[in-house]
Amino acid sequence: MVYSCAYFEHGNEDLATAQEKKIDHILTKIRLQRGHTLLDIGCGWGALLIRAAEKFGVRGVGVTLSPNQATLARQLIAEKGLTEYIDIRLQDYRDIQGKFDRITSVGMFEHVGLRNLRSYFAKIDSLLVNDGIAMNHGITSTDAESGETPYGNGEFIEQFVFPNGELPHLGLVLKTMQEAGLEAFDIENLRHHYARTCELWTNNFEEHAESIKLLAGERRYRIWRVYLAGCAYAFNKDWISLYQIGCVKAGRQRNSLPWSRQYMYSQSIAVDSRASDQTP
Ligand SMILES: C[S@@+](CC[C@H](N)C(=O)[O-])C[C@H]1O[C@@H](n2cnc3c(N)ncnc32)[C@H](O)[C@@H]1O
Repeated sequence: MVYSCAYFEHGNEDLATAQEKKIDHILTKIRLQRGHTLLDIGCGWGALLIRAAEKFGVRGVGVTLSPNQATLARQLIAEKGLTEYIDIRLQDYRDIQGKFDRITSVGMFEHVGLRNLRSYFAKIDSLLVNDGIAMNHGITSTDAESGETPYGNGEFIEQFVFPNGELPHLGLVLKTMQEAGLEAFDIENLRHHYARTCELWTNNFEEHAESIKLLAGERRYRIWRVYLAGCAYAFNKDWISLYQIGCVKAGRQRNSLPWSRQYMYSQSIAVDSRASDQTP
C-alpha cells in the first residue's frame, strides 16, 4: 500500500504497476546495493523498505508518525518473513540517530513546513554517510515565492485535509538543500505522473463510493472526492508539481556516481535481484 505519486514508464500502466515502478525507479536512482543500510523517512506502510529487502536483502529503518501505519507495516513485514531486515519505528524524523548509506523520503517533506526546511535537509545530511545518496520525492508549489496555490486550492486542503501543510517552490528546495550541505545531482519533474495517479485514485474512489461512505461517512466522502479530483486538476494545470531530487553531501570529489544517467534506465534492479543468492 502506497500513498504518493506513482511512476508511469509508458503511461498506460495500472496503478499498482506504476507504484511498484516508482519504488524501483527510486531504488535504482540511489544505486541501492546489497550491504547498504537504508532509512525511509515517512515510510507509510513500508512498501519501499519491503521491496528493498526483497530485491537486495538490504536492512532498513522506517519512521512514521502514524500508529496505524506502523502496526500494519509491521504486520505486512512479518507476513513476508522480513522482520529481521526492517525496523518500523513510531518516531519523528528529528529524533532519528545514526548513519545510513541511503536515505529516502517519499511524500513526506510536504509536512515539514517552510521554516523547518533547512533543518530537515541538515538532518538528512547528518544521517548520511560521507559517500551516501539521498532521495527527496515530494510536492512543490509552482508559485515562485512558495506561496499559496491559486484559486483557494491550498485553503481547502489546509482546512479539510492537511492542516499546516506548506509547499516550497523547487528553487527554495534547492537553495535550502545547498545551505544544509547537500548537492542535488539529479532532478526529475513528475508532475504529470501525479496528475495521472490522482485520476486513477479518483476512479477507484468513485467505484467504491458506497463502501467508502459507510466507512468514513458522507461528509468525509465528499471532502475526499473534491480533494482527489481537485489535486488531479491542480497537477494538470501546473498549480502544484512533484520533483524527485537525488542528492549527495556537497563538495565531494568524484564519487561513485556514473558520468551519465544511463544507469537509471538500465534495469539494474532486475539484474541485481536475479544475481542475489541471499535475498530473503
Ligand atoms: C503521504 S505519506 C507517504 C508514505 C509513504 N512514503 C508512501 O510513499 O506511501 C507521509 C508519511 O510521512 C510521515 N510523516 C509526516 N511527518 C513526519 C515526521 N515529522 N516524522 C516522521 N514521519 C513523518 C507520515 O506518518 C506518513 O507515513
